[in-house]
Amino acid sequence: MHLLGSDDLSKKEIGQVFSFADRLASGRGMSVKARTVLALLFEKPSTRTRVSFEAAMAKLGGASIYVDTGTSQMSRGETVSDTGRVLSSYVDMIAARLRSHSDLVELASSSTVPVINALTDLEHPTQALADMYTVTKAKGSANGIEISFVGDIAANTANSLMVIATKLGARVTLVGPKGYGPNPHYVKLARSYGDVSINSDPTEGVRNADILYTDTFVSMGQEGEAEKRRRMFRRYQINSSLLRHAKPDALVMHCLPAHRGEEISASVLEGEHSVVWEQAKNKMLIEEALILYLMGKKLKKRP
Ligand code: CP
Ligand code: NVA
Repeated sequence: MHLLGSDDLSKKEIGQVFSFADRLASGRGMSVKARTVLALLFEKPSTRTRVSFEAAMAKLGGASIYVDTGTSQMSRGETVSDTGRVLSSYVDMIAARLRSHSDLVELASSSTVPVINALTDLEHPTQALADMYTVTKAKGSANGIEISFVGDIAANTANSLMVIATKLGARVTLVGPKGYGPNPHYVKLARSYGDVSINSDPTEGVRNADILYTDTFVSMGQEGEAEKRRRMFRRYQINSSLLRHAKPDALVMHCLPAHRGEEISASVLEGEHSVVWEQAKNKMLIEEALILYLMGKKLKKRP
């Protein structure tokens, strides 16, 4: 089984991954089979996802190997599919951060071991799982929670979050400029699970929000249009005046890396509504849980 996109796990399976995470969070150590190896095949920069996956594997008693595609034969034209075929004959699992989602699909189709999407242009499902785990812990349940995703509503993070959030019973409002995004495929998919609305007015879009979520205005690979994008999204900064229009106990989330003064103000990022650092911390827990789940580990009932 692979985790390539936000629709690859059912609600029940997400619940199982969250149960592994709960078990790990309670300090009850778990481990993978001895000598389990994870390859991290990364074509784009990363701080959190790379280190948290490596740390997750170390904590579970396995090992990991980081492969920067720029120093691999992929940089000289070796196909993604040959790379997947060979890597999967050495390791037990591959986490891949690739520019193009179709490359990830190609990698998975040639791999004989599970492949995890560690971010592509279209999706960031491990992030959305960590995000929704964070929401569940902070609010007791995701059911009925109103999430306003503010800013770049066509981002990979928005795509994955809207699907996983609605699957878990949350309602999503995508708050971004008129005529820009969101990705119709993901909106349709998310609407098959629950409510997704689209609003170009920032204050109306966050009214009743339990969660305000944002991501960078300039994703990796979009540097060439950075100025245009900063102008286009300027009205959609999460700051204290926008936060006043949400519910009084609203929480603020950001997948990071943050750009203070662009998509979020420094005071909100560090303020009392922010769960951003907890959210980042939960990435490792969810990755440990996912590795266990994809390796076929079963949770034994507590005695
Ligand atoms: N949130 C996230 O994926 O961060 P990195 O790009 O640092 O991995
Ligand atoms: N949308 C961002 C997410 C970074 C974790 C990007 O793709 O750069």
